[in-house]
Parts: sequence; C-alpha cells; structure tokens
Amino acid sequence: MSAVNEKKVAALAAVKYVKSGMTVGLGTGSTAFYMIEAIGEMVQNGMEIKAVATSNETEKLATRLGINVITLAEAKRLDVTIDGADEVDENFQLIKGGGGALLREKIVAHNSDLNIIIADASKSVSKLGKFKLPIETIPFATQLIINELNDMGLSPVQRMNGNDHYKTDENNDIVDIDIWDCDMKLTELERHLKTIPGIVETGLFLTTTNLVIIGKGDEAIVKNR
Ligand code: A5P
Repeated sequence: MSAVNEKKVAALAAVKYVKSGMTVGLGTGSTAFYMIEAIGEMVQNGMEIKAVATSNETEKLATRLGINVITLAEAKRLDVTIDGADEVDENFQLIKGGGGALLREKIVAHNSDLNIIIADASKSVSKLGKFKLPIETIPFATQLIINELNDMGLSPVQRMNGNDHYKTDENNDIVDIDIWDCDMKLTELERHLKTIPGIVETGLFLTTTNLVIIGKGDEAIVKNR
C-alpha cells in the first residue's frame, strides 16, 4: 500500500472526530491535504464548522473548498485540530515543520482541546531525529544562531528555496538541525533551544498530541495518549 493511500486512510479516520458546530484547526502538508479535502466535502454536504488554518497554503485550499476560515483570535479556542507530522514516536512526541509551518501549527495545537496527528506508516519511529529538526529563526539572528547550533554539534543547515533563503509565512528563516546523536533529553533540548534569542519556535511537539492515527495498509491504527 502506498504512502499516499495510507495518508488518505488516516485522514478519513480523523475527520470522523469533526462534528457540526465545532471550531477546527486545519494542519498543513500532504497528509493534511486529504483531511481538508474530506472536511470540504462534509461542509458541502451541510456540516457547519469554523476553521483556523495553520498556513497560507491551507487557508487558500480550505477557502476554495467552501470552508469558513476565521482567525485564531475570533476562534479563541479550538475543539479539535488535525495535522500531519514528519516523525511520531511511541510517546506521542513529534518532529514537525518539514513544510515550514511549524510556528502556526504549534500555536494552533497549544490552543486546541483535542490534537489529532495523522500520518502514513513511514512516519512512525522508535526514536525521533532521522528527520532533521526544523527551527524557525528571526532573520536578524539566523547566522549567529547557526554558529551557536554548530558549536552544540547540531550540524545546522539554513533551508533554501532555490538560491534564496526559504521564508516562512511569518517571513522568518528555517534552520534544519541534526539531533540524532544529541545526548540531551528532548525536553532539555527544547528548553535549551528556546533560550537562544532569535529562535522563535522549534519543530519538537512534545506534549500537545492526544491522538495519533497511522495509516498502515488499508487500516487506520488509532493510538490514544
Ligand atoms: C508542515 O510544516 C509540517 O509540520 C507538516 O505537518 C509535516 O511536514 C508533515 O507533512 P506531510 O504530511 O506532507 O508529510
């Protein structure tokens, strides 16, 4: 079974948690795409929801499908958020940000009662870190942050878009780091990274996830925290 089908299987299992009247956080990425498409169909069939998008790309897609997109300030609190991940471990810890939307994704997750992560089976790992951890940085500080992360042995690489620096929806930079051999605990690493001025957010999502739905073959495996 291909990863694409597994993404669809997970997405379709997740949208069952969305009910009329809810305020819903919409994630970003190729897995979230199938979830947004399915919610769009539910809306076209009469379901009434309000949604907050985690990226400009998601906002465009959701609006095009007729989903009522509001701001986070208008929503105040979200009933459920469904999003993808680059890696998910057995303790519901994630690496996110492969698509560069980690900052808004983390804000939305923090403000959501129920966070559901959907992924194909390849994203399920026993240890996080084969995927490089994205860090969002303020451009003014990026080069010095790279130097500091280099001194920590984290092999930082600034993300590029062709010949230009990749820019997030907030017009920040992304630096991808290698945490595979890092001997700090993930909580410790997260805390340390957040003490460096200019690091806005990291792609480590350690506490927000309630439910993980993995598409494995034709089956959706649901894991509840
Ligand atoms: C977006 O920045 C990311 O956090 C995505 O949620 C993550 O990269 C998963 O994307 P895919 O579903 O495309 O693998």
